[in-house]
Amino acid sequence: MNKIDSQSASEIVIFGALGDLSRRKLLPALYQLEASGLINSNSRIVGVARQEHTVDEFKAIVLENLNNFVKETLDADVLARFVERLVYQQLDMKEASAYENLSATLAEGNSTRVYYFSTPPAIYGDICDGLNHANLVNDADRVVMEKPIGHCLESSKVINDQVARFFKENQIYRIDHYLGKETVLNLLVLRFANSLFTTNWDRNSIDHVQITVAESVGIEGRWGFYDEAGQMRDMIQNHLLQILSLLAMEPPADLSAESIRAEKLKAVKALCPIDKTNIKEKTVRGQYADGFLNGLAVPGYLNEEGANTTSKTETFVAIKAEIDNWRWSGVPFYLRTGKRMPAKHSEIVVHFKEQPHNIFSESYNDLPANKLTIRLQPDEGVELQMMNKIPGIASQMHIQENKLDLSFTETYDNERVVDAYERLMLEVLNGNQSLFVSRDEVEAAWTWADSIINAWKSTNEAPKPYAAGSWGPVSSISLIARDDRQWVE
Ligand code: BG6
Repeated sequence: MNKIDSQSASEIVIFGALGDLSRRKLLPALYQLEASGLINSNSRIVGVARQEHTVDEFKAIVLENLNNFVKETLDADVLARFVERLVYQQLDMKEASAYENLSATLAEGNSTRVYYFSTPPAIYGDICDGLNHANLVNDADRVVMEKPIGHCLESSKVINDQVARFFKENQIYRIDHYLGKETVLNLLVLRFANSLFTTNWDRNSIDHVQITVAESVGIEGRWGFYDEAGQMRDMIQNHLLQILSLLAMEPPADLSAESIRAEKLKAVKALCPIDKTNIKEKTVRGQYADGFLNGLAVPGYLNEEGANTTSKTETFVAIKAEIDNWRWSGVPFYLRTGKRMPAKHSEIVVHFKEQPHNIFSESYNDLPANKLTIRLQPDEGVELQMMNKIPGIASQMHIQENKLDLSFTETYDNERVVDAYERLMLEVLNGNQSLFVSRDEVEAAWTWADSIINAWKSTNEAPKPYAAGSWGPVSSISLIARDDRQWVE
């Protein structure tokens, strides 16, 4: 990897530096970049938050968080360099005049400024106003925005417009952390560096695709926030659609942001609309009830701390998505995601078509089709299920389904799995937007998601209950069984 050269000194300004995301993800990611020598020696990290703290207190908080959230043992030299970069600025982020204090704190000169908005999106506009008020907006600066960008198409436009008053699209980095995951990035390599898959990646060879993103955690103390969103806005509109678009897009001409984003956008735009005419047939919403996880009793969604006991918010969604284009016509993409499922387990399974004729019927009646499984997390890897002859002298050929298994931990046993935020932060510093979501794509994703959310609203039905620790409501099984298929579990 290239080190960033001395021209790339930056001021990384984290708004909401004492928040959960910053403490758990951003600061540990920056520490890892420091350890890899990927941060310019003149760069500084400016933590901005509402609370009064001295810089030494801020450093102590960061140190405690690194101890808690960096998995490896901290290196004393790296830590000393890292802590040296830290600066703290107390700020009322809604008060434009207060940004003059920030201006006094920021370095003058040629540093590129990276403004990381790790705050609720409702104040992105205020932050932009403040930066503009204090003359802190330059063409070379970058803005990093966390999801959720709005809770529907209209509100996402409002947020995007607020930021666009001062920053151009090529300065805006919209994060979807799934795009920084090694296994998600590997989809590009799998598809476009292996002719075996490049030439068999369409309706002629593929029967259907399943994408499962299951989590065993529940709501983890953020009931109020989650209840406003639900699993459709929290996971499908962004993470699952990102995976789907990488799987379904046409080959980009190269790895540039323009090429990749243009192809992903076309894929999302080609999704067949789901509305009240087909909502029941194409989707299932669920909500977890009391149940057991790893042998322990866990409360249902409505019995969680702080819950509103009549909430109809979904914690599980299954969708039969279809893509209306030449490549994918007739190939369903079954999406499934939920909280309080039996395990944290995310994978894509590409089911190839069956053989048209079985010449091994004497020993094997029903030849199973090949399956390509991409294990996103944990136990990252790629696995291809195929038929093989069982060695032996018997005149009749005995055959068996076996798998070729490329496990990342076994194959790359010395490599640390890089966290998604580390990769994405590095790309921001390098000014590469290819792993960030364009405004057009966010809007196309909302258009599709809104139609589903509105159709659910119009039916006024409560989500189907499922026991915590199960794979979702029974109707999720029926969704796929209606097509004579079943979820891989
Ligand atoms: C976040 C969602 O974007 O992604 C959370 O808001 C979810 O609800 C999380 O738990 C899952 O991320 P990961 O990386 O743990 O799969």
